Amino acid sequence: MMDIPLYKDAVEPIYRQLARYFRLQIEGGRLLPGDRLPPTRELARQLGIARISVVNAYTQLQEAGLIAAHPGRGTFVTGTRAQTGGPGSQWPLRHALNISMREMTRLARQPGVIAFSGGTSSEEFLPVEALRHAINTVLDRDGAGAVDYEEAEGYPPLRQAVSEYVSSLGIRCHADDVLITGGAQQALDLVVQTVLSNGDTLITGNPTYLGLLDIAHVRRVIPIGVPFDAQGMRLDALEATIEDHRPRLIYIAPTYHNPTGTVMPLHRRRQLLGLAKQYDIPILEDAVYHELGYHDAPPPPLKALDENGLVLHASGYSKILLPGTRIGYLIAGGALQDRLAQVKQAADVCTPGLNQRAMHVYLSSGALAGHLNRIRAELHARCETAVDAARRYLPPGSKWVEPSGGLYLWVQLPDNGPTAAELYVTAIQHGVAYAIGTLFHTDGSGGRHIRLNFAAHPPTRIQEGFKRLGEAWDAWQQTYAPAIRRTPIL
Ligand SMILES: Cc1ncc(COP(=O)(O)O)c(C=O)c1O
Repeated sequence: MMDIPLYKDAVEPIYRQLARYFRLQIEGGRLLPGDRLPPTRELARQLGIARISVVNAYTQLQEAGLIAAHPGRGTFVTGTRAQTGGPGSQWPLRHALNISMREMTRLARQPGVIAFSGGTSSEEFLPVEALRHAINTVLDRDGAGAVDYEEAEGYPPLRQAVSEYVSSLGIRCHADDVLITGGAQQALDLVVQTVLSNGDTLITGNPTYLGLLDIAHVRRVIPIGVPFDAQGMRLDALEATIEDHRPRLIYIAPTYHNPTGTVMPLHRRRQLLGLAKQYDIPILEDAVYHELGYHDAPPPPLKALDENGLVLHASGYSKILLPGTRIGYLIAGGALQDRLAQVKQAADVCTPGLNQRAMHVYLSSGALAGHLNRIRAELHARCETAVDAARRYLPPGSKWVEPSGGLYLWVQLPDNGPTAAELYVTAIQHGVAYAIGTLFHTDGSGGRHIRLNFAAHPPTRIQEGFKRLGEAWDAWQQTYAPAIRRTPIL
């Protein structure tokens, strides 16, 4: 008797859910070559679905080369562990990539699913009324000028406002040193394009920000991951990696790191800068969460401590204000500044002027400080709820470090159960979604980690979501663990 969880109200057809179930079983090594799949009629009857759904699922698996039908004998698994990757191989990576980001996002968007998988805080944090007011002010004041091309470097008054803000963090900066970008993402991309060539090596954390790995992939540079401890990137491992790989750039998010939530303390920041100087490697600092501490101010950004002009500082307004306006900035200065502006111009001519001007009006109103105080307090409350719910509902043996800022709880699941990718579909069926740890790693590790964005939901939903996650874990254990102990039929 097979107990296969199927989501009958889902938009995704039953046959595709069924095919995916078998694919995951095969790729996870729980259905082995030679295992026989149940006859279509019998399985349809057991599951209470139409036989055609089973036939279609088997056809899809056959086309993928995972099973084969032998007339008169039945349908058998053909995929081998070697083909699909067995333990010790890169299979978690393949597995996670099979459940591609797009598919994960689509599943997480199903009605009723509490999604902890995204990268933004909840909608009620977005000051829509203030934005409306700012846009109207700009249109009344600037008319067509507001929707004309802007300078590639950015709207000068906004560059000025950014330079004043980062100066308050200790960064020596003039408005000319500021490049306004399409979100922090574009700031990172422009640096990768400007500093690196095809095939160059880029050092990053392992784990690291997923969007940085995307950039590395499309720009054809090789990301090498350096492990983290509770204080951020491990510098002993960094130095060994520099010696081994001679990288051209170090990417690092030292404050409320995504996904781990770690903050690099001041002494380690200074040591990191010492290493960068010793090996003469520029650092790309990502500071998008810098303002989201729940308690005291974090240590100064690396750029504020930099005596040698080696740090490029990227940040923006997505995490603290309005992600969809796509306003970020890059503080480089020095010889790279002009080159970066050229690359920016080639990429998209300019960041939309209306958005830049509206952001400038908003910042000039002085409302940001109050807004930040509100969201910090709310994030703190949500984080405490999440940690409390994690203690209460996540499987015993789960581990995490309570963050002091940012949006995420980074959880290591216990070894005695499913990986994050294996659990994912069951979690969706229980109405909860998370981000799979493997996706944040450079080497396919992190299979037992999940990232939970608690900022996306109010406390009662956080409690409910974590409860569902615990239930999904238990359901998985009950449904699939016996299958792992099963022996092959042939
Ligand atoms: C560490 C990090 N850097 C950069 C970004 C991109 O930010 P933006 O929306 O400003 O492009 C994100 C968004 O998730 C992030 O987590």
